[in-house]
Amino acid sequence: MLWGSRMGKDQDPAFAHLNASFSFDRRLYREDIDASQAWARALDRAQVLTESEAETIIVGLDEIRPTLADPAFEPLETDEDIHTAVERLLTERIGSLAGKLHTGRSRNDQVATDFRLWVMRACDRMGDAVQNLALSVMQSAQAGVNLPMPGYTHTRPAQPVTWGHWMLSAFWPLIRGRERFARARASAAVLPLGAAALAGTTYPIDRKAIANDLGFDSVSPNSIDAVSDRDFAVEFLFAAAMLGVSLSRVAEGLILFSGPEYGFVELDEAYTSGSSLMPQKRNPDALELTRGKAGRLVGHLTGLLMTLKGLPSAYDKDLQEDKQPVFDAHDTLLEVLPVLGGLITTLELRPERMAAAISPDMLSTDLADYLVGKGLPFREAHNVAGRVVRVAEEKQVALDQLPLKELQEIDDRFQRDVAEIFNLEAALARRNVLGGTAPSAVKTQLDAAKEMLNTG
Ligand code: ARG
Repeated sequence: MLWGSRMGKDQDPAFAHLNASFSFDRRLYREDIDASQAWARALDRAQVLTESEAETIIVGLDEIRPTLADPAFEPLETDEDIHTAVERLLTERIGSLAGKLHTGRSRNDQVATDFRLWVMRACDRMGDAVQNLALSVMQSAQAGVNLPMPGYTHTRPAQPVTWGHWMLSAFWPLIRGRERFARARASAAVLPLGAAALAGTTYPIDRKAIANDLGFDSVSPNSIDAVSDRDFAVEFLFAAAMLGVSLSRVAEGLILFSGPEYGFVELDEAYTSGSSLMPQKRNPDALELTRGKAGRLVGHLTGLLMTLKGLPSAYDKDLQEDKQPVFDAHDTLLEVLPVLGGLITTLELRPERMAAAISPDMLSTDLADYLVGKGLPFREAHNVAGRVVRVAEEKQVALDQLPLKELQEIDDRFQRDVAEIFNLEAALARRNVLGGTAPSAVKTQLDAAKEMLNTG
């Protein structure tokens, strides 16, 4: 045991099991070794270790990497966590010199350093995975820049949009997600090493040099805060939860649009499952799981926040609970993102189904705008258009099938040119405001999207 002679008896085995974290923090082995090598170099610079001692330690640490990388590696009962296991394996390799590595260091600043390094690297992986999905989304949008489809609010038909525009509405949340992981990375890139247990190490350590060595941006300004700050983990989990929520919304949209009632898109069979009972079924499980995982991701975020709430300052063992939610959020998203990307890449669009679902009443706002063009204030124009909608409904005809005479009975400002209002292509083209659904505006948006992918 690490604290050697302090205790008069062994730990209760059930407590030892509860206390041990090796089963999950073994994933930090790379970071523990990298940070330990940086610490050995720092001890060398501080003349606590000789150059050759540091070298022996650094080489020894490299030599135990494969052992820890092996999933079949079995820890000893005394390997409480990854830090203990690394030191034990190093001792077996280079003898008692290994005992000098922990000089001036505590597992408190060590675990915070390892975990931050892991989160920094994880943020890079998340950024790449989000980027890949964003590329699939952009390509699908590109394939349907001009393709008209119904747009919905309240899940009710609202106004025509294009597939490209709808798809790009899923693109920008991904870009924001990518930025969130970049910000979480920046929060993680503050070096705790040198804080020791809580008060700061007694050796003349150049902390800035360690930060440089390990790729941290700066050093923590307060050693007590350094060992207890897990804000970066919360920020990672918020980025993950927010992304999960964004993905769940795209998934829900595609679940609706791929169902028989809408039928705007067809899911490739490779991303659907059948039913054990109903032979006709083809279920959108990939999308449902994407939607479902959002709950788990939000749970991890709130779970860690609750762990941190009210913790007194410096290190408390509660903090050992920080790692599993972060690992699981990372693994969950790395599983979901490529599947959703593949599903979107293989989506088949059904332009005829989209066209059939666009009805003339979705242009009743345009009818009001027509009257605005004739000088009527919009509020009144809205009223008049509403009356036209009601009359068409009563007569059971489509909005564009009401004879001009009937329109003029409602308002004499209606002229022959009112028929043009219902030209779908023209209606889309009218929405050419920056960020609007007009194909020309969507092309501009698409260029901006491509630019985003290149600068990622
Ligand atoms: N396994 C511990 C954790 O993950 C390492 C730090 C232990 N520190 C301590 N003072 N017991 O938090």
